[in-house]
Amino acid sequence: MSETLIRRAGFDDAEALAAIGAETFCETFGHLYPPADLERYLAQAYSLERTLQDLNDPAKASWIVEADGQVVGFALVGPCGLPHANVTPDCGELKRLYFRKAWQGGGLGTRLFAEATAWLQSRGPRTVWIGVWSENHGAQRFYARQGYTKVGEYGFEVGDTVDLEFILRRDGASFFSDL
Ligand SMILES: CC(C)(COP(=O)(O)OP(=O)(O)OC[C@H]1O[C@@H](n2cnc3c(N)ncnc32)[C@H](O)[C@@H]1OP(=O)(O)O)[C@@H](O)C(=O)NCCC(=O)NCCS
Repeated sequence: MSETLIRRAGFDDAEALAAIGAETFCETFGHLYPPADLERYLAQAYSLERTLQDLNDPAKASWIVEADGQVVGFALVGPCGLPHANVTPDCGELKRLYFRKAWQGGGLGTRLFAEATAWLQSRGPRTVWIGVWSENHGAQRFYARQGYTKVGEYGFEVGDTVDLEFILRRDGASFFSDL
């Protein structure tokens, strides 16, 4: 069994975070887009500058997962930026949750998701939102198991390509109903 470590990311992790973000996005979705669209999106979404801004924002939190001495996954949460009429300023969002292929399906996603959700609820109770690609059935099953349901749709832009994205939500009170 290899050693895995889930930990909050800090400024020293910015380069590693930007790199794992771009790598796992390409691994998961890279085949869907013309190279020019993908390149434009990566330069904007996973730049070092953008990653440092996220790390510097006290309303956001990032995690890194390490295994066998390498970064294998990460997560980013913060205020909800999804386009839905019921989103309010105190809503939270799981913005990113990605693992390298070789590290999927082994329970790490569930553990990281629990940590990220707990951080959001430490400022709650707050409703949590997630955007997920309409064809990403594996992730949709994963989120459904965590109590998230589909409440809307929107167009997610990668360069000039616009994907159909589902909007998922879990109400804040439900996180505390078992206590
Ligand atoms: C979605 C993801 C974060 C889940 O983490 P994980 O460590 O693989 O999930 P766990 O092992 O904790 O849980 C397994 C469950 O996740 C779901 N799942 C999603 N993608 C999966 C994959 N590639 N392999 C296995 N299970 C996957 C399934 O529902 C599975 O449950 P099942 O065994 O009943 O089918 C991870 O698979 C991943 O990084 N996928 C690619 C990137 C991605 O799609 N991110 C979400 C963007 S919104």
